[in-house]
Amino acid sequence: MSAIKERLAIEGGEPVTREPFPSAGLGPAAIGDEEVAAVSAVVRSGRIFRFLDPENSWCTRLERHFREMTGCEHALAVGGGTASLICGLIGIGIGDGDEVIVPGYTYIASASAVLICSGVPVIAEIDESLTLDPEDAESKITPRTRAIMPVHMRGIPCDMDAIQAVARRHGLKIIEDVAQACGGSYKGRRLGSIGDVGCFSLQQYKVITAGEGGMVVAHDRETYERAALRHDSAMCFWKPGASIVAPFPGENLRMNEMEGALGCTQFQRMEGILARTRTVKKQICRAIDGLPRIQLHRSPDPEGDCGIGIAFFVPKSEDAKRFAAALRAEGVPAGCMYDKGIPDRHIYSFWEYVMTKHSQDRHGRPWTSPLHDSSRTYRPDMCPRTLDILGRAVVLSLSQTYLDRHVEWIIQAIEKVARGTFT
Ligand SMILES: Cc1ncc(COP(=O)(O)O)c(C=O)c1O
Repeated sequence: MSAIKERLAIEGGEPVTREPFPSAGLGPAAIGDEEVAAVSAVVRSGRIFRFLDPENSWCTRLERHFREMTGCEHALAVGGGTASLICGLIGIGIGDGDEVIVPGYTYIASASAVLICSGVPVIAEIDESLTLDPEDAESKITPRTRAIMPVHMRGIPCDMDAIQAVARRHGLKIIEDVAQACGGSYKGRRLGSIGDVGCFSLQQYKVITAGEGGMVVAHDRETYERAALRHDSAMCFWKPGASIVAPFPGENLRMNEMEGALGCTQFQRMEGILARTRTVKKQICRAIDGLPRIQLHRSPDPEGDCGIGIAFFVPKSEDAKRFAAALRAEGVPAGCMYDKGIPDRHIYSFWEYVMTKHSQDRHGRPWTSPLHDSSRTYRPDMCPRTLDILGRAVVLSLSQTYLDRHVEWIIQAIEKVARGTFT
């Protein structure tokens, strides 16, 4: 009997597999002896602080890797992805009252970073690429808008041509959130190097990890210097010399040498990880494209896609939950994205402190700043298309640890569930 006619495991049939899939993926799954040796050497040396010996610093080396990868003249290692966004936003001059357009599907940190810089996150719809819809972003522009933040979610490159066209038409800056797409590209250009500033995260769940950590890249010296001043209150003393930006207060958002060593070692693994995840994704996409009841996510550049996740849409949100449950019953790890009952801080409607305009400040700043549009309101249903798209999505995270048999099981399970009928 063909797989098509087989009873689904969720209805009591035989599952496609009973063998558990590898649980970890991407950078952390690739940690090996080299990482252990590099980090141990830093700890033994006692030289943890990056500016003790800048010439021989792992952090300096990691910055060089990112400059070479992106073709940007400047790179700044920082302590995390959120730190990289804060420094990037300060780099491009975001401040009190400035509006920055962010997609309704991104980690809450993207919006939070804007608020930390006293700006206003303006939430726009995503489209079937799971990334910012350029047309909706344009419709949200006001006289206060200063920047657009495309976020390359799940390793999928945003439609950067269209976003750049919007930015050009309205004189806006672009800050790319590349937290989930390190090493990805768009039409041959590395993500992070297309806008005015690119911001990476190197935490646990990313393509490569430094434990915690982030990177800011920029072509423009002033953007870099402003970001660097924000990342360290003594930056002007660590790097004395001619500066085109007058010093202003910063905070400690530095990367340390243990993170630098881990990051450098992982950087050498990045292309290998991406080569495998891209192959896995292409094989699955080829096999499931055109199956009944499902529509693959759109990719503005499939070649540049990191391949670390796959999403497809089913006609109704109830179907997505059942489809994902049916895949899990077949032995394949899958999930759905938007469930009103399960808060996921990657979805704007669960950004409570944005929805309620709550801040740590007893005067309610930045929301109460006279430079803000005080009539701006946020509602959990303000981006209905985003909720509809996410509600109908079934998602699988992909890993370089997936072997051919895992790929085969994923394909078999999706085919089986898509062609099967279940209640
Ligand atoms: C899209 C996005 N932006 C920003 C961040 C923040 O990065 P970090 O956790 O390193 O501060 C993350 C982290 O998960 C993310 O996924």
